[in-house]
Amino acid sequence: MKAALEAIRAAAHQQLTEAKSLKELDDLRVKFLGKKGELTAILKRMGGLSAEERPVVGQLANQIRESVEGELTARTQALKAALLEEKLRAETIDVTMPGSAPAPGHRHPVSLVLDEVKEIFLGMGFDVVDGPEVETDYYNFEALNLPKDHPARDTQDTFYISENILLRTQTSGMQVRTMEQRKPPIRIIAPGRVYRSDALDATHSPVFHQIEGLVVDKGITMADLKGCLEAIVKRLYGSEAVVRFRPHHFPFTEPSAEVDLQCFGCHGQGCRLCKGEGWIEILGCGMVHPKVLQNCGIDPEVYSGFAFGIGLERLVMGRYTIDDIRLFTENDLRFLEQF
Ligand code: DAH
Repeated sequence: MKAALEAIRAAAHQQLTEAKSLKELDDLRVKFLGKKGELTAILKRMGGLSAEERPVVGQLANQIRESVEGELTARTQALKAALLEEKLRAETIDVTMPGSAPAPGHRHPVSLVLDEVKEIFLGMGFDVVDGPEVETDYYNFEALNLPKDHPARDTQDTFYISENILLRTQTSGMQVRTMEQRKPPIRIIAPGRVYRSDALDATHSPVFHQIEGLVVDKGITMADLKGCLEAIVKRLYGSEAVVRFRPHHFPFTEPSAEVDLQCFGCHGQGCRLCKGEGWIEILGCGMVHPKVLQNCGIDPEVYSGFAFGIGLERLVMGRYTIDDIRLFTENDLRFLEQF
């Protein structure tokens, strides 16, 4: 029996040393110390021993139980420590590693150029004003010397909401809104969205931006208009930029002109972008029509003014050599990420 007990001690020692997981250790605990375990089995047979042998064997059995229990505890702790060590190693955080920054968004090229234009005008003493995109017929047309039967209304395909409410086709209504609220001297720009029922192509979009400008004071002349607009274009495009003033007609200005920028795609040779013209129209302008001043309660005998409406997308396209207006609204990241 002693030999059997010593065999258990040796086997337990060896198997505990070799055990590699907590599960294995627990299995060994059951195998050696459990109710149906090997040690218990021997103790159950102690009844057959003599009175002298019993305490000796009993003592030995207890020693072995304690030693196996001790070893089991030590092995369990060692294994747990090793597992923890392993886990900590695997989870190591390298605080010196560079972080992965969230990809920042990009400002839209239209916003970039608009900010630049605002900055230039602010520097020239203009205020920036804002007005509604859903506009009344009065401000969009009527007050601008475009009565209901005026043929020029047909040139701007209008989205009507009701008979007298529409999506503004131009920012020019802001001239009227401003003159109703302010007395001369007036120097404002009014940037914003405008809407036209136009088919979408490389140079036309049903939604685009204009920057309206208005200057009203005593003694304002066409020379002021030309000087102002030339200065703006040179600031935006550099002193090499080539522009031309071309006589035109607008009902709310007299005289009127359009300003063309020499095509940035072909430098005047003619290409797809300028439809073979060599020039791209970027704005309309003129001296504020006396009737418009009158409509706003400003005496045209005392005051004069000039106005202009810049096509913002055209400016941006020239600025960054973009040849398709649709890129601005398609939200293609490959395009947007370049700015
Ligand atoms: N509103 C005109 C358009 O959309 C542009 C324009 C022309 C604005 C002459 C003006 C101006 O202020 O004086 O075509």
